[in-house]
Amino acid sequence: MPPRAPQSLQQLRLRTLRIPRPLSAVRHQVRHRHHHQHQHGRSLRGLRCLVTGGSRGIGKAIATQLAAHSAQVTLVGRSEERLRAALRDLPEEAGAGQLQQHGFVAGDISTKGFWEFLVRSLHLCETTGGERAPFAPGVDVLVNAAGITQNALLMRQSAVAIENIVQTNLMGTLWACKLMAKPMLGQHAKSKKEEPDRIGPSIINVSSLLAIQGGVGSAAYATSKSGVLGLTRALAGELGPLGIRVNAILPGYIETDMTAAMQPAAREKALERIPLKRFGDVAEIADAAIFLATNQYANNCILNLDGGMSAV
Ligand SMILES: NC(=O)c1ccc[n+]([C@@H]2O[C@H](COP(=O)([O-])OP(=O)(O)OC[C@H]3O[C@@H](n4cnc5c(N)ncnc54)[C@H](OP(=O)(O)O)[C@@H]3O)[C@@H](O)[C@H]2O)c1
Repeated sequence: MPPRAPQSLQQLRLRTLRIPRPLSAVRHQVRHRHHHQHQHGRSLRGLRCLVTGGSRGIGKAIATQLAAHSAQVTLVGRSEERLRAALRDLPEEAGAGQLQQHGFVAGDISTKGFWEFLVRSLHLCETTGGERAPFAPGVDVLVNAAGITQNALLMRQSAVAIENIVQTNLMGTLWACKLMAKPMLGQHAKSKKEEPDRIGPSIINVSSLLAIQGGVGSAAYATSKSGVLGLTRALAGELGPLGIRVNAILPGYIETDMTAAMQPAAREKALERIPLKRFGDVAEIADAAIFLATNQYANNCILNLDGGMSAV
């Protein structure tokens, strides 16, 4: 018996037509892959990773590296088409062994209803054995990378733009942490019994250099990203003792669609300020995510990857 869509989901539909439908209707696009033990570093084999913003840019790069380390990845984004394309791009697994499944969920992460839906689906996955579930039961690593920006002076910025930025970047991450923490804890207790050496669960929040450094035209964005940093710190203290590590990455300027939208003059100005004289690559941010997922002493670890921009 499929669950009824909660009222909030009906409301969500008004915001986007690509929200996840009730469980019976949601088809998790599953790719079956073979596991292989990653040759370098600790393998993330069997770890279930949910990556928001996984369809493009930094989120996609993080998802790609997680998959390359044998983790099972679920991408979250708004555009189903882009999610499908990103899923196809996830690295092929070599060798034989267990089946590995990657998938995606299309929806707007900025609303509480989306995360309630996701948690309910996780629960149903568990109770139905996961076989016909929309995505893999359980989440070990939650990566909050979905985000938007708009460069504008606060006095000139529209109320809609301000609200969208804060709702997506800050509230989306806050709801994700609030609603996913409990199921993550439950699953962790269960998995640990079965596999004592298993890497512990963690949350990785993608904040920004603008969380700690001023920038003209970034008031709403900086508000949202410094909120994410405060959230990370508070949760490292709250969830750390329970077994979930919470960490953040603060990228400077990274080559993605987000920075491709910059005016040439603004780009030149930014390059001048970066000691390494270039924008970062998404793979360089993904490296940090792998470190945070695997290093079991990393809690409230705030990694700035900005080519040295934070120093000047
Ligand atoms: N690029 C930089 O220089 C830079 C620097 C510092 C911090 N960051 C942060 O890094 C993160 C990733 O940025 P990026 O440069 O990779 O951006 P991007 O290339 O523009 O990609 C943004 C991603 O977020 C998803 N997304 C946006 N709003 C969403 C929503 N409401 N619900 C679900 N998914 C949503 C997009 O999904 P769709 O494809 O469906 O739209 C896409 O996957 C962001 O949090 C950003 O603030 C970026």
